[in-house]
Amino acid sequence: MNVKPIIAPSILAADFANLQTEVELINSSEADWIHIDVMDGEFVPNISFGIPVCNAINKHSKKPLDVHLMIVKPERYVEEFAKYGAEIITVHAEACPHLHRNIQQIKALGCKVGVSLNPHTPVDVLKHLIKDIDLVLIMSVNPGFGGQKFIEATYQKIKEMKALIDKEGADTIIEVDGGVTSENARQLIEAGATALVAGSFIFKSKDPLQTIADLKNS
Ligand code: DX5
Ligand code: ZN
Repeated sequence: MNVKPIIAPSILAADFANLQTEVELINSSEADWIHIDVMDGEFVPNISFGIPVCNAINKHSKKPLDVHLMIVKPERYVEEFAKYGAEIITVHAEACPHLHRNIQQIKALGCKVGVSLNPHTPVDVLKHLIKDIDLVLIMSVNPGFGGQKFIEATYQKIKEMKALIDKEGADTIIEVDGGVTSENARQLIEAGATALVAGSFIFKSKDPLQTIADLKNS
């Protein structure tokens, strides 16, 4: 029997004027986490939302919050995200010159720690840290916007990441983010992904609950 993937709908594609309703929709679905995309207009060329919105989502969410920080100097804000309900906090390797320190800081807050890699960043940058990392978030688009086209080289990258995790004896899980649909979900899981983020595919569909169920049963 196939192991079902963790499904993390990205709230970035939701209707921000009806955030409570959108969160309740995720609560009543087969989704496992809520993915929260925080953008600072500096690390990525877009601004999304920040701590107060994370707090508002947390008030209504029955699912763990999976917070993806696309920001420079995340060490300034991780404590507040932890305070407002983040269970997983993911930072970008490219935004953290002292990544080991960022990882220890997030762990010390009692959160699970994730590290994200942009499409061009080789998996090897995590070689010496992988045992300290709970989750690797592999970007399958350039971060900054929802609704972009999936980058095909991602399958190979997931395989390389999985091989590195196994070689180092780590229990890190792989999450994939960007352009995920029912078309590529199975192939991503077969390559080694455990968790799938999906924004547009879920929230722009006619029946988001059914779309989440379909992804869960990919
Ligand atoms: C991109 C974000 C993604 C985005 C995914 O910077 O990290 O989480 O919301 O959106 P879709 O699924 O529409 O590609
Ligand atoms: Zn994301």
